[in-house]
Amino acid sequence: MSFHVPDDVVPAGRDLRAYTDELRPQHPVVRNDRDEWVLLRHDLVRRAALDPEVFSSAASRFRQVPNGLDGAEHAAFREALDPLLSPAALARHVPEFERVAASLVAALPRGASVEAVGEIGAVFAVRAQSAWLGWPAEVEGRLLAWIGENYAASRAGELARTRHVAEAFDAIIAEILEGRVPDPSPQADVTDQLLAVTMGGEPLRHADVVSVLRNWTGGDLGSIALCAGVIVHALASDPGLQARLRQGVTDGVLDHVIDELLRRDSPFVGNRRVTTCPVDLDGVHIPAGAKVKLHWTSANRDEQVFGDPDALDPEGNAPHNLVYGVGKHVCPGRTLATIELRTLARALLAGTRDVVLDPAGAPAREVAPVGGWAAVPIVLV
Ligand code: HEM
Repeated sequence: MSFHVPDDVVPAGRDLRAYTDELRPQHPVVRNDRDEWVLLRHDLVRRAALDPEVFSSAASRFRQVPNGLDGAEHAAFREALDPLLSPAALARHVPEFERVAASLVAALPRGASVEAVGEIGAVFAVRAQSAWLGWPAEVEGRLLAWIGENYAASRAGELARTRHVAEAFDAIIAEILEGRVPDPSPQADVTDQLLAVTMGGEPLRHADVVSVLRNWTGGDLGSIALCAGVIVHALASDPGLQARLRQGVTDGVLDHVIDELLRRDSPFVGNRRVTTCPVDLDGVHIPAGAKVKLHWTSANRDEQVFGDPDALDPEGNAPHNLVYGVGKHVCPGRTLATIELRTLARALLAGTRDVVLDPAGAPAREVAPVGGWAAVPIVLV
C-alpha cells in the first residue's frame, strides 16, 4: 500500500524538505492527488533513475530535448550535445565567470541588507549563462523577469500559466537566434556552436535547438539562483564553515563542500517518469503508465544512507549524493553549475571580510513545489 497525500496539503505553504523528512521514514512512496507516485527513499529513487526501460522519461506531452527522450534517440542527443558542456569546452569561460562574479560582488552595498537569492543568485545566474552562451547583456532584464514569472507559475501549478511562461521563454530564444550563423569553431560562442551541431550529418531541427536552449537555461537559471541561496545561507549561518573556507581551500575541497550543502538542501526537487510496465517498489505496486516522481530533495536526506541528514560530511557523502541525478539522464550541466557556484562562492569570500544574516530580516523557506530558500537577507561586511 502507498500512503495517499491530499494534493492540497503540499501547496498549502509547506516546506518540501521538512514535509518529506516527516513522510519518508514511514512512507517511502506516497501518492498525491495529481496521481503521481512520489519516490522519497534514496534506494527507490536511484533504482528508478537507473532503470530507464521501466521508468521512461517520456512523461510530458511536449517534446523536451534531451530530458523527455528515451533509448537510442536520447543517447544520440547526449552524444552530440555533451561535448559543449565538457570541462575542456568550459575552461575558456572561467575567466568570464570570475569577472561576472567579482563585479557583481563589488557592486553590492556593504553594511546594508542584500537579498541573496534575488540580488545575488538570480543576477549571477543570468549574467553567467549569458556570458557562456554569448547572449547580449540587454536580455538580462527579460530573463530576470522570466525567472520570477516561472517561479510564480510553478507555485500556482496552473497548466495554462505554465504554458504561457514557456511560450514567453521561446519568444526570447527566437529573438536571440535570429540572424545567427552556425559556427563549429572553438572560438565561436556556444549558441553558434549549438546551431552547428549535427546528428547523422543533419543539423538539429529549429524546434529542437529551442528545446535544448530551454532546458539549458530555462530550468537552470532558477536552479543556480536557488543553489546560490542555499550556499550563501550556509555561509552566513555557519561562521565556522565560513571561516574554514576563508582560510583557503582547493577547488576540489570547495566543490565537495558545495555539493554537500546542496545535498542537505537540494533546491532542484524532482523529475518525472512514466512506467512502461507494472513494477513493485518495496511492496508498493505501481501499474503500467503511472506517473512517477523521483524526489531528489528527499532521497538526498534519507537517514538510512546519510544518518543525520543535516550533518555535513562532504567526502563521506559524495558517493551517494544525488543532487545532479544518476544514470543516463544524469545532469550534463554539472561541471558548468559547479564552476559557476564555486566562482560565486569564491568571489563572495574574496570581496568581503564577513557575510552575516541580516538581523533585521529572517530568511524565508520556499514552499512546494519549489525547494531551497525564497529569500535570504544578508549583510556584507
Ligand atoms: C545547480 C544546478 C543544477 C542542478 C541541481 C541540476 C540537476 C539536474 C538533475 C537532478 C538532472 C537529472 C534529470 C533526470 O534524471 O530526469 C538534470 C538533468 C539535466 N540538466 Fe541539470 N542541473 C543543474 C544545472 C544544469 C545546467 C547549468 C545545465 C545546462 C546548462 C543543465 C542541463 C541539464 C539537462 C539538459 C538535463 C537533462 C539530461 C537528460 O535528460 O539526459 N543542468 N539536472
